[in-house]
Amino acid sequence: MRRVLIAAALPLFAQTAPHADFNKPLGVECAHCHDTPKLETARKMTRMVEHLNQNHLQGAAAPVSCMTCHRGKESGKSTIPPEMTKSDWPETLKLTPEQETKPAREVYSNMKSLGGMQAGRVSRVMQMFRNSLGVNCDHCHVEGDYASEAKPQKNRARKMLSMVSSTPQFFDGKGTPVFCFTCHRGSAKPQF
Ligand code: HEC
Ligand code: HEC
Ligand code: HEC
Ligand code: HEC
Repeated sequence: MRRVLIAAALPLFAQTAPHADFNKPLGVECAHCHDTPKLETARKMTRMVEHLNQNHLQGAAAPVSCMTCHRGKESGKSTIPPEMTKSDWPETLKLTPEQETKPAREVYSNMKSLGGMQAGRVSRVMQMFRNSLGVNCDHCHVEGDYASEAKPQKNRARKMLSMVSSTPQFFDGKGTPVFCFTCHRGSAKPQF
């Protein structure tokens, strides 16, 4: 009964619905969600946005919204395009094959978030950070002293990692489709 009522009321509410701002970020019409299973997804997404802004991003200059990830597309999923993918790693940081398979905390001196990861994978994560934010390594690091905490952006990145780890609860699968690029899109501060 309630579903039918909503469908009938849609044109009436079209100008005033509290979330008429859902249409543009996703590039969809009202009926995309209403009276379809997408409504439940959209509810979860609304809870996710509240959770992120009230917890991890509290005090951020700009809160995240549907637009941050969706940018006019139905799905908020995205991958780093090839033209934004740089791949290089300083010679001085090359590991021996034996080091590569050890836990990162045994090879590097200051791993508080990624210590359990295989040391050989750290280079890929760092390059993903850099490419997602469109910065260089020195945005977060003092060049030549990667263990240093002198740049506040480094710890900010750790907080962002724990934020990303809190997102699987809002999606159906086991993992999360959200990673740094999903919001940042090649910019140190997300544009929306
Ligand atoms: C991206 C999905 C999405 C789009 C697009 C969308 N809505 Fe909604 N709408 C929702 C969600 C989620 C709720 C909250 C429903 C709930 O939690 O019961 C809602 C609630 C409503 C309600 C209140 C009814 C209720 O059950 O609380 C009205 C009326 C409504 N929408 C109208 C519209 C209109 C008109 C449009 C187009 C301008 C629109 N919606 C576009 C997802 C969407
Ligand atoms: C942090 C990033 C992020 C934010 C913010 C976000 N979304 Fe999403 N959204 C996603 C991702 C990623 C997917 C794709 C999920 C998948 O395919 O597993 C998605 C999928 C969806 C879908 C299903 C799309 C489809 O047709 O399959 C809907 C509906 C949706 N989002 C609505 C919203 C609404 C409404 C908001 C704002 C309240 C919002 N999202 C905010 C990341 C986000
Ligand atoms: C967005 C910020 C950010 C960017 C960009 C970044 N890193 Fe990192 N890096 C971190 C964080 C955070 C850690 C610590 C991870 C932890 O605590 O587990 C780290 C750790 C490291 C370490 C281990 C240091 C130690 O001894 O503990 C190395 C080496 C490193 N990064 C190299 C790089 C290189 C090279 C680049 C560029 C390709 C880069 N990083 C780009 C944030 C960044
Ligand atoms: C849900 C969206 C979202 C995701 C996902 C996300 N970020 Fe952010 N990030 C933000 C917002 C919003 C800001 C800006 C906050 C502000 O303006 O104070 C920010 C700011 C930052 C900053 C500070 C930039 C500067 O120069 O001041 C760093 C560093 C950062 N993010 C790293 C990351 C890393 C690394 C990841 C992936 C592990 C990540 N972010 C994932 C939303 C996100």
